[in-house]
Amino acid sequence: MKLVVLENAKRAAGYAARLLADAVARHPQIVLGLATGGTMEPVYAHLRAAHRVGLSFAGVQSFNLDEYVGLSPDHPGSYHSYMRKHLFDAIDMDPARGHVPRGDAPDPVQEAARYEQAIAGAGGVDLQLLGIGKNGHIGFNEPPSDGASRCRVVTLAEETRRANAAYFPDGQTPLRAITMGVGTILDARACVLLATGATKAKAVAAMIDGPVTPDCPASALQRHPDVTVICDPAAAAELCETTLRETELRGA
Ligand code: F6R
Repeated sequence: MKLVVLENAKRAAGYAARLLADAVARHPQIVLGLATGGTMEPVYAHLRAAHRVGLSFAGVQSFNLDEYVGLSPDHPGSYHSYMRKHLFDAIDMDPARGHVPRGDAPDPVQEAARYEQAIAGAGGVDLQLLGIGKNGHIGFNEPPSDGASRCRVVTLAEETRRANAAYFPDGQTPLRAITMGVGTILDARACVLLATGATKAKAVAAMIDGPVTPDCPASALQRHPDVTVICDPAAAAELCETTLRETELRGA
């Protein structure tokens, strides 16, 4: 794992966005894996800005990590809505090329299998953007999640439901989601994980310094040959001294 600690959350998000934008510029037909959540909002703001000054997404395809079971694409709390608001509506990618699992599919289990096949059918994900949950989840792979897991229907942890309650007017985060599995994520050719804020410090330390264990699903990324973890100082605060010494520290 390559670890980059930037001086604040804004710069960390900018760095992550730059990695994605550079990849799109170099490989206009790239298949991106995309994440949602608060951490990613400034990343998408940077990508929208990059598009305004000429970066084209016309040849790009994307696959989001997850979606809530039971929500239609036009539900304001759905990840379809999130992606339209933060990225898809502001770039030149054909909406049909921005894939998000259908939370309102009549058979969510079948939808998860279809989604796994769709990713494979596109040739797999070239560059996967990831956040991390306070409990070490990636996508919605809650602990314990097997490192070989594939796209599937999962039950959300109470902690995750609380963390996302603000996105729902009644505070009721759905109970279940369709998510790429840990194994699906590990199949991406490269991963960029962005973690900012003190609430992520324990999970970041467990992911990097801890053992590879289903109890911290993000720790499976230790087995991936091309992962860049980008943090602000608060999210990096609980990493061990040795890890921090080997870190690529960057200033402005
Ligand atoms: C969402 C996702 C999740 C989030 C994680 C952090 O698509 O994959 O793993 O990245 O829950 O969410 P925030 O950024 O809201 O703290």
